Amino acid sequence: MELRVRTARGLEVKIRNFEVADIRKVMEIEVGSSLDGDAGLYLELRDEWPAGFLVAEREGRVVGYIVVILTPEGEGRVFSLAVDSRFRGWGIGRMLLKAAFGVLRKRKIGYVELEVRVSNSIAMGLYNRMGFMEVGFFPYYYKDGEGAILMKKVL
Ligand SMILES: CC(C)(COP(=O)(O)OP(=O)(O)OC[C@H]1O[C@@H](n2cnc3c(N)ncnc32)[C@H](O)[C@@H]1OP(=O)(O)O)[C@@H](O)C(=O)NCCC(=O)NCCS
Repeated sequence: MELRVRTARGLEVKIRNFEVADIRKVMEIEVGSSLDGDAGLYLELRDEWPAGFLVAEREGRVVGYIVVILTPEGEGRVFSLAVDSRFRGWGIGRMLLKAAFGVLRKRKIGYVELEVRVSNSIAMGLYNRMGFMEVGFFPYYYKDGEGAILMKKVL
């Protein structure tokens, strides 16, 4: 897929499927966002379901990505979402989520869920505004002992 979108704040970005050559930039954003996914895992996820791995490109450079996967229950799950810190707050995260919802809807998936750190109020605010509801809490979910909030949205 390839979409040209304009964010609410007027930034033009291209949203397209991840390609293997993007992995360096994806890992740079991942590390810069204090996330701990590794390149091998991302490449595996891409092999499993290429349609679920999208990147946002601005002037030829990758500035964000989202990975959605299918759960054994047949629902969607946001496995990962991050935007280059220099491009945050411009609506790219929202556009990546919207594009990923489109991919899930095409597969007739009814729900999408995700986990978010209790302290990550920016991400949680965005998810709330996009229609996610808090449906659960997992204490000590992350390696550093922080809890996770489980959120879910009807597609
Ligand atoms: C969460 C994340 C992906 C959002 O990406 P983004 O491109 O900045 O998202 P958007 O610009 O679409 O939306 C961010 C929203 O938060 C608000 N926001 C952005 N930065 C903010 C800040 N520093 N303080 C308060 N609000 C902020 C924006 O106003 C926007 O609100 P809106 O929905 O009313 O427009 C990005 O912050 C990120 O990569 N964070 C680190 C990784 C991470 O936490 N991933 C999520 C794991 S669950």
